Amino acid sequence: MEKPLRFLTAASVAGTLALGLGAVHSVHAFDEHEATIDYRQGVMRSIGGNVGSIAAVVVDGAEFGDNLEMHTRHLVDLTADIPALFPEGSDFPDTDAKEEIWDDWDRFKELSQDTKDAAEALHAAVEAGDDDELPIRFRNLGQSCQACHDDFRRD
Ligand code: HEC
Repeated sequence: MEKPLRFLTAASVAGTLALGLGAVHSVHAFDEHEATIDYRQGVMRSIGGNVGSIAAVVVDGAEFGDNLEMHTRHLVDLTADIPALFPEGSDFPDTDAKEEIWDDWDRFKELSQDTKDAAEALHAAVEAGDDDELPIRFRNLGQSCQACHDDFRRD
């Protein structure tokens, strides 16, 4: 009589533990996406901040040309691996990322690569002191951002 009872107790303790761990696990998974989303929105805002500062110099003539090397270098670093910021399923809870990203992952990677290439091309022109190239390379960069936002970001 005592033995089966002990077994039952042990089983239910194990069951409770398993349930508890399961709950902790799913809460953790939820938090993980939330943190990932916060992180990538921060990276996107950093990208946007650098692009805004570059526009002020290249398009509007703000006298901070000496900082272009720094801003474009940051862009090269920040755009180095955009797909890594979008793990599958991170279209929830609070994000403007569309779920089409993961249905059309190859295109998403292509558009990320276009932005990375455009940032590198802009940085190279700054480093070479090739000022005539800056407006066109900057425009290319901006269009590459737009191309991805049009398809994969909620308005
Ligand atoms: C390959 C796709 C892709 C590329 C390339 C891309 N973005 Fe984004 N961007 C997104 C997606 C998707 C979001 C929405 C992210 C979210 O809400 O989780 C976003 C969000 C943003 C945001 C809003 C961040 C916030 O506060 O929520 C800014 C600003 C931004 N991008 C700027 C840029 C700029 C500037 C470039 C180009 C230099 C760029 N992005 C290139 C996909 C891209």
